[in-house]
Amino acid sequence: MIRHDIRKDFPILFQEVNDERLVYLDNAATTQKPRQVLNALLKYYELDNANVHRGVHTLAERATSEYEASREKVRRFINAKETAEVIFTRGTTTSLNWAAQSLGDVVIEKGDKIVISQMEHHSNVVPWQELAKRKEAELIYINLTADGELDMDDATTKIQPGVKIVSITHASNVLGVINPIKELADLAHDAGAVMVVDGAQSTPHMLVDVQTLDCDLYAFSGHKLCAPTGIGVLYGKRAWLEKMEPVEFGGEMIDFVYHDHSTWAELPYKFEAGTPNIAGAIGLGAAIDYLNELGMDNIHHYEQELVKYVLPKMQAIDGLTIYGPKDAAKHTGVIAFNIDGLHPHDVSTALDMEGVAVRAGHHCAQPLLSYLDVQSTARASFYFYNTKEDADRLVEAILATKEFFSNGLI
Ligand code: ALA
Repeated sequence: MIRHDIRKDFPILFQEVNDERLVYLDNAATTQKPRQVLNALLKYYELDNANVHRGVHTLAERATSEYEASREKVRRFINAKETAEVIFTRGTTTSLNWAAQSLGDVVIEKGDKIVISQMEHHSNVVPWQELAKRKEAELIYINLTADGELDMDDATTKIQPGVKIVSITHASNVLGVINPIKELADLAHDAGAVMVVDGAQSTPHMLVDVQTLDCDLYAFSGHKLCAPTGIGVLYGKRAWLEKMEPVEFGGEMIDFVYHDHSTWAELPYKFEAGTPNIAGAIGLGAAIDYLNELGMDNIHHYEQELVKYVLPKMQAIDGLTIYGPKDAAKHTGVIAFNIDGLHPHDVSTALDMEGVAVRAGHHCAQPLLSYLDVQSTARASFYFYNTKEDADRLVEAILATKEFFSNGLI
């Protein structure tokens, strides 16, 4: 169960938009921040602000110990073996770019294959495209079933020896499906490939255990799980991180700098050049504390209940197309849809007039949209602070939008 007074922790939700109570359903883009996270940021800047790993004065030691405490919180949150395997980055995009550049240099040679899927976010497409171009490797896409799930027969056919990297999203930011990462990691490892996972849309919503998933690298962002923007994580098994070279160079990431060469600091610091996002990391730690108190299983269960409630209501609306699995049990809180004859941007604007915030566009997944043969969609995405009342408001606003446009009132 989620605490019934949970919304009180999120001051931003208590406002009106266009004279209606705000219903925030753009959580796949970014989530709102509870007071507990805002307070942690305020406390850090009011009392502890200093650079980390450099000074020996009291504030520097406090800042360092809070920054490193957050790394330990992340380690426990995803069940990494050791904090050395937790690298702070700017977010999932940076994490995946570093993976492609640095891991790519270690394992990809001319003619090798890299496997991704048709449902990837641009952050898990473009870095691999660039790597494939640079190394003259081949980029291969796993197809989807008619229901928008990963086609595991196609995955089995394509993940074969010669494939050196498999990089798949744990949960789609458009279709609302969760992919079988452990099964994919087994296929990858049997083929001699490294398994990379985009966890941007899964880590905020369910228990993630990187050891059980047996993935080699795992990327996620703080801002999609109640933490500030500009902080994220690249998890990697020590064996791979040891082999990978740093992507950025400068202060903090060195062991010793000679006039003609340098040596690198130990993990994870060799990847963290320059002054890091200290406040962001501390905010991420506070967000993890907050989510742990709610319980990741509770969050997952609660969101599933919301989807079971809202999906059939949306499916019953005439002229509404929903992308992804029809079965609510297979759907995350991400629901992409179109209304016949209406442009998603018009739909989103009309919903905003009703106080309902959804995203419209290609959702940074143009290859997926072209595979589905659609230009763009609207997308509602739920989090644990949304309620059945929010779901009803979405359905009412969609019906009102249909009505407005059919009457030519907008
Ligand atoms: N990746 C985020 C989204 O899907 C921004 O909306």
